[in-house]
Amino acid sequence: MLKKLQATTGVIFAGFLALHLINTWLAATGPDTYDAVQGLLRTLYQFVAVEALLLAALAVHVVVGIMRIVKEPKRVLSLRSRMHRYAGVFLAFVVAGHVLAVRGPSWFFDVYPGFAGIAFSLEFLPGYFYPYYFLLGLAGFYHGLNGLSIATGRLGWRVPVTPRLLAATTAVAGVLMVAALLGLGGQLFDVGEPSNSAFAHLAGDILGVEPGT
Ligand code: HEM
Repeated sequence: MLKKLQATTGVIFAGFLALHLINTWLAATGPDTYDAVQGLLRTLYQFVAVEALLLAALAVHVVVGIMRIVKEPKRVLSLRSRMHRYAGVFLAFVVAGHVLAVRGPSWFFDVYPGFAGIAFSLEFLPGYFYPYYFLLGLAGFYHGLNGLSIATGRLGWRVPVTPRLLAATTAVAGVLMVAALLGLGGQLFDVGEPSNSAFAHLAGDILGVEPGT
């Protein structure tokens, strides 16, 4: 029962995650494409019923994951399953903060982060946000793809992902994530003044700092 619930909620969230990661990788091509695609996708995933379903699926998935770890702490796991669990634990720790930081501003202040908001975060605290976003993207990809192969098996429509395919696609996801971060960090093209964005001003007001300093 718990396994089926985890599989179903995982598959629901994976649909959003796939689109979200592709959107993130498009940052390597420039702010215009990234923001245009995000605006388009928003009409889908921020439609109130869809967003409620996605966030509920995510919350249930995390809670069931924690319950299963607590219930079976000593189960012997393969390397692939251990990596899946480590990625899941990392995501469980950071995902609520991520949603609050990037969706909170549009819920409460009608300010959307978009390309400039993420670029500002990287400029503001590079030592934290570069590794954080890299790990978020990589853990999200690995956990999402491996999870999809486990979940579809449990639900009876198996999508097999061989170890070689998982390793190769995760390596490609890592390269795409580095390219996206180089784009967001202004290393590939001009990104203007992220500290002048509405998101930066809001962050400055909330944190009590001057965004450009
Ligand atoms: C690694 C790179 C990532 C970046 C740069 C990023 C950036 C963003 C941005 C800018 C938003 C706001 C979207 C909007 O206003 O339309 C957002 C929302 C969100 N992100 Fe991420 N994200 C990343 C990875 C992830 C991962 C791996 C997960 C989940 C495991 C995730 C889960 C979410 C969720 C649930 C939302 C809220 C969706 C909504 O309710 O509208 N993100 N992210």
